[in-house]
Amino acid sequence: MKPDAVILGIESSCDETAAAVLRADGTILAEAVFSQQQEHAAFGGVVPEIAARAHLQHLPGLVAKVMHQAGMGYAGLNAVAATAGPGLIGGLIVGASFAKGVALAHGLPFLAINHLEAHALTVRLPGLMPDGPPGFPYLLLLLSGGHCQCVLVEGLGEYRRLGSTLDDAVGEAFDKAAKLLGLPWPGGPHLERLAAGGDPALIALPRPLLGRPGCDFSFSGLKTAVARTVALGQSRPADIAASFQAAVAAVLADRAAHALDMAPQVTGLVVAGGVAANGAVRAALGRLAKARGLPMLAPPLSYCTDNAVMVAWAGFERLRHGLVDPLSHNPRPRWPL
Ligand code: KG4
Ligand code: ZN
Repeated sequence: MKPDAVILGIESSCDETAAAVLRADGTILAEAVFSQQQEHAAFGGVVPEIAARAHLQHLPGLVAKVMHQAGMGYAGLNAVAATAGPGLIGGLIVGASFAKGVALAHGLPFLAINHLEAHALTVRLPGLMPDGPPGFPYLLLLLSGGHCQCVLVEGLGEYRRLGSTLDDAVGEAFDKAAKLLGLPWPGGPHLERLAAGGDPALIALPRPLLGRPGCDFSFSGLKTAVARTVALGQSRPADIAASFQAAVAAVLADRAAHALDMAPQVTGLVVAGGVAANGAVRAALGRLAKARGLPMLAPPLSYCTDNAVMVAWAGFERLRHGLVDPLSHNPRPRWPL
């Protein structure tokens, strides 16, 4: 594939509408993300139908904008890539259909991208990581509002899920704890700010699955404990927030340690998803990586959270292997790696 090949990427699987134009050498020619947070905030979570309509409303303008910024017509593209799952089906249909329309009209290959694969491969985008992309195999810890799993990434298309959450995703746990503390949605960043003024050792909260074999996660018991503590009314919210965050960080580090035991051949620990923004979580995982003599790689925050650059990059990884998809490809709300 030529280094000047260009892909248009589209992301619409949850509540971010995003488009990007990426060159094969890693140059981001243009990118835009529209966060629908305002649309969903009043409901305290993502409302699928509102999300689908917002994607429909914003995606065409966003694509026109990035194509204009990239300074090229559709004829200058080599392929179109869109997230085709897993995610909310309405949004997936909007993004994938749009991409198929462009592909059909301009005779371009269509690439149906698995959103989890896009997160898994982001660190390989040329120029993104200061010390260069990690070699295979590496361990991916995907920590977002919708996903919480440990994945062994052995190569393109070679993913082994070592563990995942038995109930809530870790971002969901942050959001629920934040809600109990009266913070606005999405609560993760608010909770972190509140926790900064609290004592993480003051309240003994459970650390679900800590020390257990394997690397599955569970957060519902922790959330219940937070609810009980709040209801007792004897603790400062800042101390509850700090103690919650410390419990989550400890659990994540323990689960990641078990995952590393299960995959001792890995050359790095890669962290992605919105929760990777959390300082306490990053610090705990950083300590673990250091103790194991491994680099910890976390993409810059805007590429940790949902974006279209990662979708376009996954497109290149697949296109290079000739893995194009027919226009009859259907988006999948559930699509395990
Ligand atoms: O990856 P992401 O942007 O979207 C998906 O869920 O796909 O992750 C959003 C999640 C939310 O649950 C949000 O509360 C959480 O990441 N989050 C944080 C922080 N920033 C975002 N959680 C804890 N601390 C943060 N600083
Ligand atoms: Zn995501």
